[in-house]
Order: sequence, then C-alpha cells, then structure tokens
Amino acid sequence: MFEVAISQGTTFRQLLSIYLPTINQLFPDTTVRTVQRCQEVIHRVAGRLIQEKKQKIAEGEKSGDSYDGKDLLTLLLKSNTAADLPPEHRISDDDILNNINTFMFAGSDTSSLSLTWTLLLLAQNPGIQDQLRTELLSVAQEFPRDLSELSEDQIQSLHSALSGLPFLHNVTRESLRLIPPVHSTLRVATQNNEIPTLYPVASRSGTVNETKHSFIVPKGTFVHLSIEAFNLDRAVWGEDAWEFKETEDKITKQNVILTRPYVSGKFKDGTQCPLLVSRFLGEVRNMTDCQEE
Ligand code: HEM
Repeated sequence: MFEVAISQGTTFRQLLSIYLPTINQLFPDTTVRTVQRCQEVIHRVAGRLIQEKKQKIAEGEKSGDSYDGKDLLTLLLKSNTAADLPPEHRISDDDILNNINTFMFAGSDTSSLSLTWTLLLLAQNPGIQDQLRTELLSVAQEFPRDLSELSEDQIQSLHSALSGLPFLHNVTRESLRLIPPVHSTLRVATQNNEIPTLYPVASRSGTVNETKHSFIVPKGTFVHLSIEAFNLDRAVWGEDAWEFKETEDKITKQNVILTRPYVSGKFKDGTQCPLLVSRFLGEVRNMTDCQEE
C-alpha cells in the first residue's frame, strides 16, 4: 500500500488532497482505490480475528478454563468486557476493528523495518553480531528449537528472558537511534507560539539579516519533527554520532540505594551503562566466557 501510495513520488493531486481531502472520495484515482482495497483486506482479516478471539474467550469462560492469551487483541477484548468496566467506557466492535487497523498500520512496517535495519547493522558489525548471538544462545538453550512447540507459559517466560538481556536491549536502542524507522513526523500548531532554539537561526526582516534564538510559529503552521536529525546530532551524541557503536568508557559500581552503574568520571551524568563491545573472532562461546573476558 505504501509502495503504491507514497514511495513512487508525490503528485500535485496528493498535495492538494492534504488540504481538500474530499477530492479522494469524489474522484478516486488508482492510488486511492489501492489504499481502499488494502483497507478492506485489513478490515476483513481484523474482523475475522476479533470473532475468533471472542469465541476462544467465550469458550474459556464456559468451561471455567479461562483463555489466557497475552496478545494485544485478547487483552483489548478482555478489558473491554471486564465486569468492572462501566458500560459507557466500553467500545463497539467497530471501534475495536478501527484500533486493530491502527495497530497494524502503526505496528507492522515500523517493526519489520527496524528488524531489517538491525540485521543489516549486525551484518556490518560482526563482532556485535557474535556477542549478541552468544547472549541470545544463553537463553535459547532453555527452550525448544521449534518455536511453534512453545506453550503459552513458555512464550511468556521467553518474552521475559529476552526483555532482560542487556546487550539485546542496547543493540536495539542503538539501531533505533541510528536508523529510526519513523524518521520524522508532523504536527499542526493549534495556537500562535514562539519556539526557542538551541542553535542560532539566521533570519531576514525586510532587508536586514539577523540572528535569532527563537522563531515564530503562527497558528495552523505544519511543523516537521525530524526524529532522525535529533538522533544523529553530533552536538548531542558526539563526533561518532553517525556510527553504530558502543562505548569504550569504563563502567563503575556505586551504591545509591541500589547498586547502580556509572561511567567513570561522569558520575554527575547520572546512572548509565553503555556496554563495552570488542570484536570477537572464533567460535561462539557461552556467556560466562564473555563475561570473564
Ligand atoms: C520499532 C517499532 C516502532 C516504531 C519505531 C514506532 C514509532 C512510533 C512513533 C515515532 C510514533 C509517534 C508518531 C507521532 O506521534 O507522530 C508512534 C505512535 C504509535 N505507535 Fe508506534 N512504533 C513502533 C511499533 C509499534 C507497534 C508494534 C504498535 C502496535 C501494535 C504501535 C502503535 C502505535 C500507536 C497506536 C501510535 C499512536 C498513534 C496515534 O497517535 O494515533 N507502534 N510509533
């Protein structure tokens, strides 16, 4: 859908439809029809998923063996039918369907692209790849190789185990920093405002050039928020901001109510634990070997 709708270039008509959305309803072109067809598929599949989940939940209630799915849809359906939820707070099946549409829209490309970019970065950084693999293997041993054999309980404990892996956490965050799948977003100013800036802004008033430390945003202005620019700003992240890294800083322990990690000499920067990454050549060994290193 995105391929057809956006990545083939923006036409004058698409720009016009931002200001005149009814043009799409009145005169749908190929792009609009493709998006509509995709929406219909999403609605049909999501509708079927809702019915299937509802049936599982109802069967569970009947048999006394309550359905314990932890997926987003089950949680949404269960909380919507919870006995202590006032009727006016319940949402209709149609709204559940629209929410699923949002989750699919917001959740699928973002997740798959971030995974793709992470895999590419790991391919370009084999040392990090090995270390991450070693960490993941330390967890994998406890579970069946074929993930389709996992019970609901095992899925939960695999999820908790993965969430607790510090290196996986850092690799994921560094990948999202360097290549944020949502590189920017838009907002519209709902009132006139003057926004202070971190860097001086060159501006022109009449024939006079001046340097300002703020700019005026009139009500109704579209504001482009560049997540990628924040993430890659050398002034914030340092000269190596455009590289996929970990740090060589030394980590020290301090007892501050709990035992917390700090970067040596940077206690005032607060608790933080950037990981030391060194290229690992040879066979993948177990976590204990890595930690001893
Ligand atoms: C790596 C994966 C993801 C990234 C990088 C990502 C990124 C973002 C960003 C930047 C926004 C803010 C957009 C804005 O306010 O302009 C956002 C909003 C949102 N995301 Fe994600 N997201 C990811 C995964 C997911 C998943 C898996 C779901 C749901 C299953 C999801 C659901 C949402 C929803 C519901 C919103 C709010 C939309 C709204 O304000 O109406 N996202 N996401």
